[in-house]
Amino acid sequence: MLTPDAATERARWTASADAWDRWADPMADLADKLNRPLLDAAGVTAESGKMQRVLDLASGAGEPALSAARRVGGAGLVVGSDLVPGMLGGAVRRASAEADPPRFCAADMTGLPFADGVFDAVTCRFGVMFVPDAGAALRDIRRVLRPGGKAAFMVWGPLAGNGLFADIGAVVAAHLGEDHSLAPLFRFAAPGSLATLMTGAGFATVEETDLTPVRKAPAGQPFWRAALDMSFGHRLAGLDAAARAALEADIAARFDAQADNGTVPVPAHVRIIVGH
Ligand SMILES: C[S@@+](CC[C@H](N)C(=O)[O-])C[C@H]1O[C@@H](n2cnc3c(N)ncnc32)[C@H](O)[C@@H]1O
Repeated sequence: MLTPDAATERARWTASADAWDRWADPMADLADKLNRPLLDAAGVTAESGKMQRVLDLASGAGEPALSAARRVGGAGLVVGSDLVPGMLGGAVRRASAEADPPRFCAADMTGLPFADGVFDAVTCRFGVMFVPDAGAALRDIRRVLRPGGKAAFMVWGPLAGNGLFADIGAVVAAHLGEDHSLAPLFRFAAPGSLATLMTGAGFATVEETDLTPVRKAPAGQPFWRAALDMSFGHRLAGLDAAARAALEADIAARFDAQADNGTVPVPAHVRIIVGH
């Protein structure tokens, strides 16, 4: 397991902010398919009249903070936060169209700027794996939760079960060489690895659930471009147009070779870990 480096992660996400903002709206429906089970696990409901206070960590361009705010409505409060202010640009832009928008603030999840016990639920989608001292983050998350509150995390399962990362990563490595920048994404891919840290941080009950959806993507279409820009963009910045075109042609060919009756099956493997 490769422990991420704080400066490298800050640089990666600062460089990725524009791509995440650009793709946030086109990817919103797909994102919501993962947001729903995460919010369910955290106990964030659309129950009218229930006052819920939710903290979303590592919100990036607003997932799942925006979905949480729609559930909680005007009676509650959703705070979205992220280490990198630039990553929140998309979230703030998207929130301006919402009736009951979340509030956003820059915050490192290892030192949250909130009082003890003020949130009913904490969510974090694909963020905790990038924190070098994840144990410190989990202890601070527990501190800001009220007694009986829940924290729910979504992390990636193994690389082999995540077709977009595996196939695009193989082509990027063939063109640009191997590097370790994808490794932090899969830091908690082993079953029980984050759950063990959560127990160590003082969560009383920890449960995990694996989801393995298979998306049927349209063959011959660049359905992979969002993942290329968002997750590999930091490696592609120096490529000239011809080199980028050659890379994209190889990615397209790799997915087209998997087409079956006009669709490409794209498997994903995510895990939800919830602590009480
Ligand atoms: C893969 S993105 C996830 C964004 C969003 N939750 C989503 O699922 O679309 C990871 C995010 O984690 C944030 N992040 C990394 N380290 C962090 C830390 N120590 N505290 C808070 N956020 C952090 C990054 O800035 C980035 O926005």
